[in-house]
Amino acid sequence: MLYIGVDLGTSAMKLLLMDGEGEIKNIVSMDYPLEFPQPGWSQQNPEDWKLALFEGIPRLLCGFNANEVEGIGVGGQMHGLVVLDENDEVIRPAILWNDGRTAKQVDYLNETVGRDKLSKYTANIAFAGFTAPKLLWMRENEPELFRRIAKIMLPKDYINYVLTGVHCTDYSDASGMLLLDVEHRCWSKEMLDICGVTGAQMPRLFESYEAVGTLKSGIAKKLGLPENVKVCAGAGDNAAAAVGTGTVGKGACNISVGTSGTVFISSESFGVDASNSLHAFAHADGNYHLMGCMLSAASCNKWLMDEILRTDDYAGAQAEIAEDKLGKNRVFFLPYLMGERSPINDTNARGTFTGLSMDSTRADMLQAVLEGVAFAIRDSIEVARSLGLDIKRSKICGGGAKSPLWRKIFANVLNISLDIPESEQGPGMGGAMLAMVACGAYPTVADACRALVRAAQTVEPEPELAALYEKRYEQYRLLYPALRSVFAKLNG
Ligand code: XUL
Repeated sequence: MLYIGVDLGTSAMKLLLMDGEGEIKNIVSMDYPLEFPQPGWSQQNPEDWKLALFEGIPRLLCGFNANEVEGIGVGGQMHGLVVLDENDEVIRPAILWNDGRTAKQVDYLNETVGRDKLSKYTANIAFAGFTAPKLLWMRENEPELFRRIAKIMLPKDYINYVLTGVHCTDYSDASGMLLLDVEHRCWSKEMLDICGVTGAQMPRLFESYEAVGTLKSGIAKKLGLPENVKVCAGAGDNAAAAVGTGTVGKGACNISVGTSGTVFISSESFGVDASNSLHAFAHADGNYHLMGCMLSAASCNKWLMDEILRTDDYAGAQAEIAEDKLGKNRVFFLPYLMGERSPINDTNARGTFTGLSMDSTRADMLQAVLEGVAFAIRDSIEVARSLGLDIKRSKICGGGAKSPLWRKIFANVLNISLDIPESEQGPGMGGAMLAMVACGAYPTVADACRALVRAAQTVEPEPELAALYEKRYEQYRLLYPALRSVFAKLNG
């Protein structure tokens, strides 16, 4: 049997075809544009995702027997607001997870409604990328369009809707809307009221590994698939990546270095970080997790390479960084190119290079970018540590984790062992595994993880280097507090 996993990312849709033993048979990647219509805004057209799916699946299946495909599972970029009218037509471009236009609505939710109430209703507070503040923004700024909303959903739910005609979502992704009562796994009536929407506008809730339906016949024909292919509810990309790297059960950790950077800690019971710096969300295995999310991770490196250094030779540029410079760089970089979510929750924050001198080199600046992202991930790990979570090892996945140098920097900045899974395809692999559970190939997500996920290698921290990075991290930590009020004045 074959299973299709779809990673609905921010820059591309990555599709993979996996067999019942977890072997990846084919991978296809389809790019689509990302719009920044105003500074700090970030949008995408759901039609582009649909086209990527329609072109990607036939390409993925080329040379394979499509009749062997049993299930499809999608892991998608989280929090994006997708709104449909009564004819199920998309009303406006999706407002994405890294969009910062809702500072005013976030303030209203956190300060006027109050953090305590939000945390009681949803287990979380408001962050600019979350879905509820975007609904408030639409109500205030696009009242005509807001009135036309018949269905609200998240990016991967739109794909599932296209495939099956079912308006659905799953608990892991729904957690990031600030509309779900995460602990009790139902929509929060209070939050729907605050946002001026009703239960009828919300999609039906499923566990990630449950089938929501089968392919619509016209769609099956278009994709070259049999109609009885099951589509599971899927998951937010971080929960899907956690499944794909085997991060389930008590206290397991996954770090994803993609466009965003996340620290994902799985848990067998519901729990909230009292400071609400980490998100308290449902996991795709039916349990829960805590997560810290930085908005620009591998995208900082991409920005430096593409826009500033204007080279596509990422490995060549990293080769200029001398091993003996690690832990000794005097240049620091704050990676807040899109503002920042965890743990500082500041839409005004921006990227900076600090500590430049006449002898600073291009390699020092690149090293500072790689280190700055690792330091910012450590900020979330430190919050987890302050909650008593003893993180000594983690999986690492995502595009940034392909770089051996960056992995070494992460292992030493965080001072933990990093396991690199055999497959880099976190969310896509997780999506395919959730589909396998939906089709009955495995009884639980944990069983699928035990059977299918293998670690390829481990990067260990080196005590001397970790000690050097400890000092650098202490210095790095001085920067944001010193600049916070400056950022507010520059961008406020
Ligand atoms: C998680 C988050 C990002 C997106 C990226 O809260 O906003 O990781 O899911 O795709």
